[in-house]
Amino acid sequence: PIVKELFGLSDLEDEVRSAFGLKRVIIVPGDSDETEHVKLELGRAGSRVLRDSLSVGDVVAVMGGSTMAHMARHFAAASQFKDNWFVPARGGLGESVDYQANTIASQLAKRAGARYRMLHVPDHLSEEAYQTIMQEPNVREVVDMIRSARIVVHGIGDAATMARRRKLRDDTMDELVKDGALAEAFGYYFDRSGKVVHRMATAGLRLEDIEAAELVIGIAGGRSKGEAIASVMRFGHDDVLVTDEAAAREALRHI
Ligand code: G3H
Repeated sequence: PIVKELFGLSDLEDEVRSAFGLKRVIIVPGDSDETEHVKLELGRAGSRVLRDSLSVGDVVAVMGGSTMAHMARHFAAASQFKDNWFVPARGGLGESVDYQANTIASQLAKRAGARYRMLHVPDHLSEEAYQTIMQEPNVREVVDMIRSARIVVHGIGDAATMARRRKLRDDTMDELVKDGALAEAFGYYFDRSGKVVHRMATAGLRLEDIEAAELVIGIAGGRSKGEAIASVMRFGHDDVLVTDEAAAREALRHI
């Protein structure tokens, strides 16, 4: 708190909270684009928010990404949460293994002494393959659990960066650009106004599950993500945003 007063970050937190109609905003000083240490602090702040939000018996669905990986590394929870579940919010999105939602969910569970389930289904499936795979009782069971999550925790990315990282096909890339995709979160792409411009049949969380979740926590920082953060906040289903100072100031320029 002393550091926050020194940097005037409590005022900035209030400003971001009211600009995007959020319940809570936590801002760490600095810019994760410039210093790895800031990204670490962001992860640490995110892990604290998640820990403080847990109730006994919760199902927590988590997305992937490097920020989420930092968050998982710092996570700790009391033994009363040993029956909680951590599950991936989506199947494989073509990320490296360290950044996959499955990996993050298992790490969180291990650090909390809690339980986890994996979803071994790629996210880019044809409609036919999707229908078939969803009939597998094992898959169905995990999917039902994912969709019942009370808490959802996710990163936010810039659309072009994420599309490249996930090796989307060229024609999909062109479509994203044409549709004005600016941001990526939950495996969906959003335009400036927070409208979803790209979606596909997914075995993971659907938009209606995100809307139905009681607590949605976004964790993302770095000036380069400011506009993307503003766009996902405009989508309007996040309750808590954990970010850094540079991203917060940049996001405010895009309200
Ligand atoms: O959905 C957004 C990405 O998972 C963010 O990834 O934290 O590595 O930038 P990142």
